[in-house]
Amino acid sequence: MTDQRPKPPKTSPYSDINLNDWRSYDHILTDSLWLFPARAKTGGHQLEYHGNYIPQIATQLFTRYTKADEIVLDMFLGAGTSALEAVNLGRKCVGVELKPDLVAHVHGRIPESARADVRLITGDSAAPETVSQVREALSALGSEAAHFLVLHPPYADIIKFSDLPNDLSNAPSVDAFLDGFERVARNGWELLAPGRFAAVIIGDKYASGELQPLGFWCMERMMRVGFKTKAIIVKDIRGNEKGKGRSANLWRYRALAGGYYIFKHEYIFVMQKPKKRRKK
Ligand SMILES: C[S@@+](CC[C@H](N)C(=O)[O-])C[C@H]1O[C@@H](n2cnc3c(N)ncnc32)[C@H](O)[C@@H]1O
Repeated sequence: MTDQRPKPPKTSPYSDINLNDWRSYDHILTDSLWLFPARAKTGGHQLEYHGNYIPQIATQLFTRYTKADEIVLDMFLGAGTSALEAVNLGRKCVGVELKPDLVAHVHGRIPESARADVRLITGDSAAPETVSQVREALSALGSEAAHFLVLHPPYADIIKFSDLPNDLSNAPSVDAFLDGFERVARNGWELLAPGRFAAVIIGDKYASGELQPLGFWCMERMMRVGFKTKAIIVKDIRGNEKGKGRSANLWRYRALAGGYYIFKHEYIFVMQKPKKRRKK
């Protein structure tokens, strides 16, 4: 007689996805090309901040790389897309953002019933003292370490977020930007549980007639810190753009005249903190 009892769920240590039922997860992407024609507007999300990422990124990553009740740490919180989506998915969130007005704004966006699960810190994510503040927040949420790390930094100086000198969008050069990013990545490494995942969301830029591959440079800085690369996802940026309309023709002319291509993509680098630090 065959055993008719349902199989117990089979999950990885970092996800609730039931591998015994893997055919029922069609909505979870496993390909490295992400095409989202529009930004999701349900679940409290809106495009009210220039530079916020589309919520579908958070939905995909948090479902793949966290379990219910676990903690997402976002060290460039912005308008709080990660915090909102963590709450929508039954996760907790610690967010760090430099701009105090933005932190107050995010606080107001979190539903009253979920406020205890979200800790917001106003501060410089590259600063050593931020590590102890995040540790306190994690401990208030009942954990020693975060379970997933989100890094969505400014794309160097493409969008200037504030006049604050420690705002990475005000770094005086690309090297200074990358050094600042690496300091944040090191802090993130300290705060992330071993074996867990991090995502860096970033695009490239053009300057002085040449492409500056910020994405790959940031990935390389993550590897210097000790993270290993699990995926380089290319994501189209249609959902990010706010009415470029008439300027599109001008960009096309410039591209044809200047020998380059107009950016239509950005990257999501999925990295893992190994359980044990590797020998160099
Ligand atoms: C690309 S935005 C992040 C947007 C966010 N993912 C969202 O969906 O709203 C980058 C954010 O990093 C913040 N920032 C820049 N430098 C920082 C630093 N040193 N520490 C903390 N936050 C910083 C900026 O103020 C900006 O809000």
